Amino acid sequence: MIYTRFIGTGSYLPEKILTNHDLEKMVDIDTSDQWIRERTGIAKRHIAADDETTCDLAEHAARAALDAAGKKAADIDLLVLATTTPDKIFPSTACLLQSRLGMKNHPAFDVQAVCSGFVYAVSIAEKFIRSGSHQRALVVGAETFSRLIDWTDRSTCVLFGDGAGAVVLEASTEPGIHSTHLHADGAYEELLHVPGGVSLGFDIEGDNINDPHYTHMRGNEVFKVAVNTLGQIVEETLVANQLQKSDIDWLVPHQANTRIIDATARKLNMSKDRVVVTVDQHANTSAASIPLALDVAVRDGRIKRGEKVLLEAFGGGFTWGSVLFTY
Ligand code: COA
Repeated sequence: MIYTRFIGTGSYLPEKILTNHDLEKMVDIDTSDQWIRERTGIAKRHIAADDETTCDLAEHAARAALDAAGKKAADIDLLVLATTTPDKIFPSTACLLQSRLGMKNHPAFDVQAVCSGFVYAVSIAEKFIRSGSHQRALVVGAETFSRLIDWTDRSTCVLFGDGAGAVVLEASTEPGIHSTHLHADGAYEELLHVPGGVSLGFDIEGDNINDPHYTHMRGNEVFKVAVNTLGQIVEETLVANQLQKSDIDWLVPHQANTRIIDATARKLNMSKDRVVVTVDQHANTSAASIPLALDVAVRDGRIKRGEKVLLEAFGGGFTWGSVLFTY
């Protein structure tokens, strides 16, 4: 049996920090540090510099993950990058990153599943490795999500930020990833979306569409579906692996909102000290949020070899999914 192991993690946040107090001065209708902290748990977010791209953030995180794994770029034979904010329409940001890292020939491609992108990307890489066709994958989640935000719209701008996280996955006879679970339901398109696009164009009118270049969200409805769906994916993962809730050592959830994270942790009966939370430090970085949180908890020594870790994600689409692995 070929398993897929996590052998290195890395992450990167851009230098510029935007605090809740900064946002108080930017939005169209009032907001406050207190409101943002109480409703979301977020204290600040990092914003890419004007000349800094998703690939720049991805490169920092990828190099850190390769160093942590003790591997060189030449050791990698698959690159999967999850992003909703690619540098260019094409080539893919994965191809741009491949070239930056001095790699050639192996497959490199982007995955677009918004905030579930990293879980999708890990699941895809795991299938390549388990099939025996590839040995070692670099999997990255990277976003400059700030570029999809109207920074005067208080209902969305307080929630998002920029960042990148990466992992190196390797074939092994020891577990490894036990299972991955992916889902989508496109019927929820209107609850969370950027209305414009390459094919549809940006000349779009409709209810609540002020500017089709930016993220539009019906936050309250998204919140309810997210909590229900994340509870279901946790249950599905436990049943598939014949595990009890108490068998999970660490929950590394998508970092969107502490109230969503707390609700999922309660369904798992997990105490707060077994749940990795970094959303307060960087807000929702979409596909980057899970690898960012994972890297923090691996580097500060919380997540140890042999422990069972559950990653779970939810995002635009809607998309959702989970990855259960022994670290
Ligand atoms: N500052 C102050 N007030 C705000 C605000 C802000 N930044 N954003 C919204 N409000 C107001 C609303 O206008 C509303 O005012 P009203 O009652 O006068 O109409 C009030 O706060 C309550 O709005 P509501 O949307 O019901 O609040 P909420 O408790 O649901 O919290 C979110 C709003 C966005 C924080 C919450 O719905 C959420 O986190 N949703 C999920 C978002 C998410 O994670 N999306 C990504 C998923 S991958």
